[in-house]
Amino acid sequence: MSELLLEANDLAKHYTVSRGLFSPKATVKALNGVSFTLAPKKTLAVVGESGCGKSTLARQLTLIEHPTRGALKISGTDAATADKATLKSLRRQVQMVFQNPFASLNPRKTVETTLAEPLLINTPMTALERRERVAALAAKVGLRPEHLRRYPHMFSGGQRQRIAIARAMILNPGIVVADEPVSALDVSIQAQILNLFMDLQDEFGTGYVFISHNLSVVEHVADEVMVMYLGTAVEIGEKKRLFAAPLHPYTRALMSATPALRKADRRERIVIHGELPSPLNPPSGCSFHKRCPLAIARCSEEVPLLREVAGRRVACHVV
Ligand SMILES: Nc1ncnc2c1ncn2[C@@H]1O[C@H](COP(=O)(O)OP(=O)(O)OP(=O)(O)O)[C@@H](O)[C@H]1O
Ligand SMILES: [Mg+2]
Repeated sequence: MSELLLEANDLAKHYTVSRGLFSPKATVKALNGVSFTLAPKKTLAVVGESGCGKSTLARQLTLIEHPTRGALKISGTDAATADKATLKSLRRQVQMVFQNPFASLNPRKTVETTLAEPLLINTPMTALERRERVAALAAKVGLRPEHLRRYPHMFSGGQRQRIAIARAMILNPGIVVADEPVSALDVSIQAQILNLFMDLQDEFGTGYVFISHNLSVVEHVADEVMVMYLGTAVEIGEKKRLFAAPLHPYTRALMSATPALRKADRRERIVIHGELPSPLNPPSGCSFHKRCPLAIARCSEEVPLLREVAGRRVACHVV
């Protein structure tokens, strides 16, 4: 058995889209080859602007979709070649927390029913055992016993996210993929929920893939950071190294756009111009070159591959 919870190798997802009655079908390379690993008790944060493929990655990791290319191992088991029974057990090991706790909970079910359901479906537990497990976990996520009889609409956003987190954790999964889990919450609540994630990780050893466009959030929770641009990873490495000295021009631009991070070491402001190109029609060479202040001729001709630089991996011809 592998020690690693996740091993993604060149994982890709392309979608075929219709561009109208008289145009040929086109391919959106939403995720175009990412490789990383996740160890128990660790958090990999995935950052990048809207449309770079973060949620697409989440759907591959949680086995909601089937990748176009690449390999994914979950706790050492290859998901692509797994039979039905194995897939079912792998799905149980990777749970998801979504951005919007208002949409992700069934309004007709009490908290108790919502939390007990996965146990009912997946375990031989008795009703009493289920009730005990639900009560114990509810307490750990900060819900009171009387909350269990209530319905989702009776809770605030933060409390709903606690319920969603409890539901994700109820089967004690090895991995939780959280897609922007605090960005819909009041800023005053965000830190509490982030701390809850971290407490649960300490206690249960869960590995997190934590998707966020907010670098302050990432700095708070991550062990490793993967910066994505147009479906690929442009820089990936240990959080401390990355935040202390980001190397890829895109990572540097993202960080310099966060005032709190910029002030810390008076890093120069790097402004990127132009919009994120469409993944339907990505630029040649490095997909960032048209917006990059450091681009040289080679950048428009040759796709940069990830290589080891200063203790992390960077895909850039210039650094
Ligand atoms: N089912 C789909 N069919 C076609 N294109 C899709 C599909 N899902 C996503 N895309 C496209 O793939 C690209 C990546 O989308 P994705 O939702 O993964 O980005 P994201 O990083 O999660 O963005 P955001 O920060 O806005 O949530 C986008 O261009 C999107 O339009
Ligand atoms: Mg998304």
